[in-house]
Amino acid sequence: MALRSSSRGDIAPFYVMEVMRAADEREAAGGDVLHLEVGQPATAAPSGAREAAHRAIDAGVLGYTSARGILALRERLARHYLDWYNHEVDPDHIVITQGASGAFTLAFLACFDVGARVVVPSPGYPCYRNTLTALGVEVIDLPVGPETRFQPAPEQLDALGPIDGLVVASPSNPTGTMLLPDELSDLVQWCRANDVRLVSDEIYHGITYGTAAPTAIAEWSEAVVVNSFSKYFSMTGWRLGWLVLPPELVGPVERLAQNATVAAPTISQHAALGAFDSIDELESNIVRYRANRQILLDGLPTVGLDRLAPADGAFYIYANVDHITDDSQVLARQWLLEHGIAGSTSTPTTDTSTSASASLAFRTICKPPSTVSALP
Ligand SMILES: Cc1ncc(COP(=O)(O)O)c(C=O)c1O
Repeated sequence: MALRSSSRGDIAPFYVMEVMRAADEREAAGGDVLHLEVGQPATAAPSGAREAAHRAIDAGVLGYTSARGILALRERLARHYLDWYNHEVDPDHIVITQGASGAFTLAFLACFDVGARVVVPSPGYPCYRNTLTALGVEVIDLPVGPETRFQPAPEQLDALGPIDGLVVASPSNPTGTMLLPDELSDLVQWCRANDVRLVSDEIYHGITYGTAAPTAIAEWSEAVVVNSFSKYFSMTGWRLGWLVLPPELVGPVERLAQNATVAAPTISQHAALGAFDSIDELESNIVRYRANRQILLDGLPTVGLDRLAPADGAFYIYANVDHITDDSQVLARQWLLEHGIAGSTSTPTTDTSTSASASLAFRTICKPPSTVSALP
């Protein structure tokens, strides 16, 4: 008799992790690698976060917290929305999660039943489609290209038939492009008119090189906002994120979180509060990203990579490489093998366009000063 197992795990791997493994193997064998594959800051958590974590350990307060997260952090985040967006958010509408990744699972479970139809722009962050698929949601791929700056537009959504949800990321991974305020407003209007739940991944807010990114929650109180301490706050390994929710989703998300995870890591919640005391340090990271971005924007065209998406934010340059290869995975292996450059490529399952593309994460070209960093 064969034991049963679910098909939920039959999803695509997160390919960039495989490039990272190959790069690590090369380094272990004594080779040099320029790491442009994984989108995580090269800096440690800011000093305020590390100090707060030490204080939390010394005070011995590291039991479970409520599933929503500690009130002090939710209140500090509410203040953050006032400071950054001039928008008032009720701390009771915020739920602290295990990174943005944990937030997606909770939000998708709370928003979409099995069989719901949810639109995911492609190219996009592959975990949206993989997590939705595992949850039994029907993922509708929406190919987006340079004509809409790799972001979805209402006219494209009209053509898709009835849908229940739309996931957007601005600035986006892997393209770095942003929804400008009017574009976000148009999408919100479309979702509102069509009763479509908008899930807005705002994890790269704060890392922008021109206009600041607008938040969907200021446009529509029914939007679901996902964010994280991983990127701007340089705290990937602390596994902490948050959701800003419409009032009717707070209870469902809280119950799902109670049962799935009990709560987000307590030490990380205390550390995150401290991170808000180190804004100067965090802003100096942005200065470095900006310089790295310029190095690539100037240098890539000189080596024949001149079809680049506008890098409005995040730390990625998205390059069309279809004049060099028709298989970007092979190209990535070649770059690593011949030049020691680890880059990420379009994921086969999400790349619905004919273009081969490569995404280069520019967090480490100029490394951070060693006094504030613990380089991976
Ligand atoms: C667009 C996007 N959303 C979410 C995540 C996951 O972030 P977290 O570390 O908060 O789980 C990433 C990580 O790279 C990302 O690029």
